Amino acid sequence: VERVLIGEASEVLIGHGVLEEADLLPAREGRRRAAVLTQPGAASYGRRAARRLRREGLDAQVRVLPDREEAKTWQVAADVYDWLAELGMTRDDTVVGVGGGAVTDLAGFVAATYMRGIEAVHVPTTLLGAVDAAIGGKTGLNLRGKNLVGAFWQPSRVLIDLSLLADLPTELRREGLAEALKAGLVGDPELVEIFRAEGEAAPLEDVVVRAVRVKARVVGEDFREEGRRAVLNYGHTIGHALEIAGQLSHGEAVAVGMVAAGAASEQQVGFQEAAIQEALIAELGLPTRVQILDPTAVRGLLGLDKKRTENGLRMVLLRAVGDPVVEPVGAATVDAALEAVRA
Ligand SMILES: NC(=O)c1ccc[n+]([C@@H]2O[C@H](COP(=O)([O-])OP(=O)(O)OC[C@H]3O[C@@H](n4cnc5c(N)ncnc54)[C@H](O)[C@@H]3O)[C@@H](O)[C@H]2O)c1
Ligand SMILES: [Zn+2]
Repeated sequence: VERVLIGEASEVLIGHGVLEEADLLPAREGRRRAAVLTQPGAASYGRRAARRLRREGLDAQVRVLPDREEAKTWQVAADVYDWLAELGMTRDDTVVGVGGGAVTDLAGFVAATYMRGIEAVHVPTTLLGAVDAAIGGKTGLNLRGKNLVGAFWQPSRVLIDLSLLADLPTELRREGLAEALKAGLVGDPELVEIFRAEGEAAPLEDVVVRAVRVKARVVGEDFREEGRRAVLNYGHTIGHALEIAGQLSHGEAVAVGMVAAGAASEQQVGFQEAAIQEALIAELGLPTRVQILDPTAVRGLLGLDKKRTENGLRMVLLRAVGDPVVEPVGAATVDAALEAVRA
């Protein structure tokens, strides 16, 4: 079992079979209850976790949230608070999120706010959850905009069972690979080398452990995203605009967004590996181009309308693999970046 620490009070345990073998919860005086939140695609794991907790003597209950983003609503949060109160959950007790990022975001948010904050533990069941969403303590729900409401709240433990991630549906795996590659590009050249050598067959353990280490290191330096943590948004500025404008999933949008950011990096800070990066993304089965139906709309989504043009936009750029900078970019760079991903 691989153990990665984030700051002093948060640890990530990664290994095969850890959901059955490792202690699910860190030792803690006074804990009597656990409330397990899960989602349809992960409910069997959620129930398994609850059974284990009961065997360990806790009063553990399970609640299956609505699937995907439907879980990240104010109404669901309100229902969960009610449920926690009904269960008699106190500040000694623990909320356990078992599922993808939608579950861990909502579970983390509820844990951060119920009784002004109780312990959260996460068991991510998607690759994206394991390398990104469950790590680092950002929680939130959607309200008008995505993640408009949230809190920073570190889970005391994140348990990543690699066996459970081994045969995810292709779409879900690729979502996660996009974020894992992003972690490599901003913080671990060796992970990028592994992807170059092995493509989609890159060993899951290397991918997860390395991506988690990158995120742990960056988050450890800047928990509240006052500076350095922003490098984890590589590929996300243009990617996010394309996600809203287009027909792309988040992972696909990040993939195309990284190609765009690569082109911007080449133009502005002399990044020499934009073409290699693009080939690598394609090799992972991710898109590198998109039909930009309406470039004006994309520029609007980027805030590159009249109001903000003079200040430009801040983007994460790569001087080299593993060497990111956050810089203002002008409209010309953005246009070149969009041009580079036009199908
Ligand atoms: N907090 C953060 O730092 C952070 C970072 C990245 C993303 N996120 C958030 O994460 C969410 C996306 O997370 P996600 O991609 O994990 O998706 P998700 O939680 O929406 O789940 C996607 C689908 O996978 C199913 N599923 C879950 N585990 C499965 C398994 N083992 N096998 C088969 N199906 C399974 C779910 O039921 C769901 O239908 C977004 O809301 C995003 O905002 C948060
Ligand atoms: Zn992302």
